[in-house]
Amino acid sequence: MTEPELVVRFTEADARRALLADARAGLTDTPKWASPKWFYDAEGSELFERITELPEYYQTRAESGILHRRAVEIAELTGARTLVELGSGSSEKTRLLLDALRKNEMLQRFVPLDVSVSALRAAIDSIALDYPELEVRGVVDDFTAGTSVPDGPERLVAFLGGTIGNLLPSERARFHASVRAALEPGEWLLLGTDLVKDPERLVRAYDDAQGVTGEFNRNVLRVLNRETGADFDPAAFDHVARWNAEQEWIEMRLRARRAMEVRLAEPPLRVEFEAGEELRTEVSAKFRRERVRDELDAAGFDLHRWWVDDGGDFALSLARAR
Ligand code: SAH
Ligand code: AVI
Repeated sequence: MTEPELVVRFTEADARRALLADARAGLTDTPKWASPKWFYDAEGSELFERITELPEYYQTRAESGILHRRAVEIAELTGARTLVELGSGSSEKTRLLLDALRKNEMLQRFVPLDVSVSALRAAIDSIALDYPELEVRGVVDDFTAGTSVPDGPERLVAFLGGTIGNLLPSERARFHASVRAALEPGEWLLLGTDLVKDPERLVRAYDDAQGVTGEFNRNVLRVLNRETGADFDPAAFDHVARWNAEQEWIEMRLRARRAMEVRLAEPPLRVEFEAGEELRTEVSAKFRRERVRDELDAAGFDLHRWWVDDGGDFALSLARAR
């Protein structure tokens, strides 16, 4: 086995600088917001893994089901020699793709990319061990930075889990355009998207009975406390998951139980919360086929295949750069 490589393009100092800028922008805005990329410190990444196993959170199981059925077809259609994965997390489902791609003996390199150093480190160590013939190179980077798609011959870029839905529409358009700009015509994008469905089921998936998603949501306050020297009391905020029917997205919010003042050391800031005031921490957009097709088309991708799981909950799109 060759030792996996870890390339740090987004250093701790870069992350801290970006977080401070986001904290200033989001906590002084009306309504207040925080960026979902700050959920994923080591604790947040672990909480996300627990979410993927919750009975209410069907996404991960649904996407795995599609990958089980389609991985061989994906390998045959793309003939990829490099598998890039954006927002890779544990890369657990990605093993289904690696297994199929290694069978056609073309695959040379696996390049997962994530802001979460802890998740990435664990994933590359474990994958390098189980796929000793592969060149494994983890990249710590922000996939919204615009320059983040790593190099490699004949790439398939996987963006799984429905994480595309955590970007706002304008951010999504920029993201698709930057991925397309990084690819050669004929290279591939595999995109996981959660689908519009019964709002009650959606809300349950984001407000589970065990309260794991609530802890994941509050984790952003713990990250802010650590990085900005803030004195948020996470227990003073209720977890809120709400369906926005107009935008077709779930919004996660943290609602102040009482009026309070929060102080940040850096940037030096005093933030007032009224009782009941909400801080938006995440949107999770849900899609229909036409929207995915149109957004990919606008960025210069042709939708080549659209696969949905048996329950009709989640879709995997295979698109080709033109
Ligand atoms: N792909 C995995 C993990 C999804 S969780 C799955 O399908 O289960 C979302 C992942 O994206 C986390 O690992 C998080 O750290 C990462 N992430 C979120 N925002 C990011 C950003 N801006 N740049 C890079 N990675 C990001
Ligand atoms: C990573 N992303 C697709 C998850 C989602 O469903 O939007 C994050 C998450 N938020 C709450 N639960 C899970």
